[in-house]
Amino acid sequence: MSPTLLVPSVRIGVVGAGRIGATAAGQFADAGHEVRIANSRGPETLTDLVADLGPRASADTPAGAGRFGDVVLEAIPFAAYRELPADALAGTTVISASNYWPDRDGDVEFGGRTQTELVAAHLADSRVVKSFNTMRWERLRDEARPDASRDERLALYVAGDDPEAKATVVDLVEAVGFAPVDVGSLADGEQIQPGSPVFNEPLSPAAARARLGID
Ligand SMILES: NC(=O)c1ccc[n+]([C@@H]2O[C@H](COP(=O)([O-])OP(=O)(O)OC[C@H]3O[C@@H](n4cnc5c(N)ncnc54)[C@H](OP(=O)(O)O)[C@@H]3O)[C@@H](O)[C@H]2O)c1
Repeated sequence: MSPTLLVPSVRIGVVGAGRIGATAAGQFADAGHEVRIANSRGPETLTDLVADLGPRASADTPAGAGRFGDVVLEAIPFAAYRELPADALAGTTVISASNYWPDRDGDVEFGGRTQTELVAAHLADSRVVKSFNTMRWERLRDEARPDASRDERLALYVAGDDPEAKATVVDLVEAVGFAPVDVGSLADGEQIQPGSPVFNEPLSPAAARARLGID
């Protein structure tokens, strides 16, 4: 039986098919969206995952997933962000779930910009929204509550400079069963990076706002 859609079915590309990408892809498909997922090694390595994700899922190259998606989630190690296919993602709303971990990603010259602002500079013709980055994949998998009210759900944060793109991501966060909390611009996304008081914390939206000092 098809799920009851909270938002119309959209085509979602997912670049990065690891813990967070595969988990989010499953939730998007379960919410009734068409999903096309990619990794670095090629779609032929994703046969088992696509079978697990069900009939709304397929595999492609990163550029193919990028062209497919009305919305694209990037969930790759930050050190590889320059490999995101900027041409294929032009004009697209891109959800950036990546985080900067120095031990994994090495030294990076930020030049006063946040991690996601660097991703956005690479994807200069995309509308980048930082989200799905604060919650470990197991919690994302196990604690979605699409049938609960917003107040009873766990907060999932959204930061971005394009209001329309941010509204699209807010709808997707709601569709998969979390409570969207808008933290402001991409620069404000600093508040939801590793080390923030809400990072990897299971909080209600009210508790999250209080901890961040936002209305
Ligand atoms: N794990 C979490 O709970 C969690 C939560 C929130 C945010 N994050 C962030 O999300 C990102 C992914 O984390 P993860 O734990 O899901 O990593 P992961 O399990 O190691 O998976 C990484 C995925 O990215 C793919 N990839 C790497 N380089 C790529 C490229 N150039 N083009 C396309 N795909 C590429 C890998 O494909 P191959 O295997 O083919 O190389 C793999 O499918 C990281 O930035 C992480 O900090 C993670």
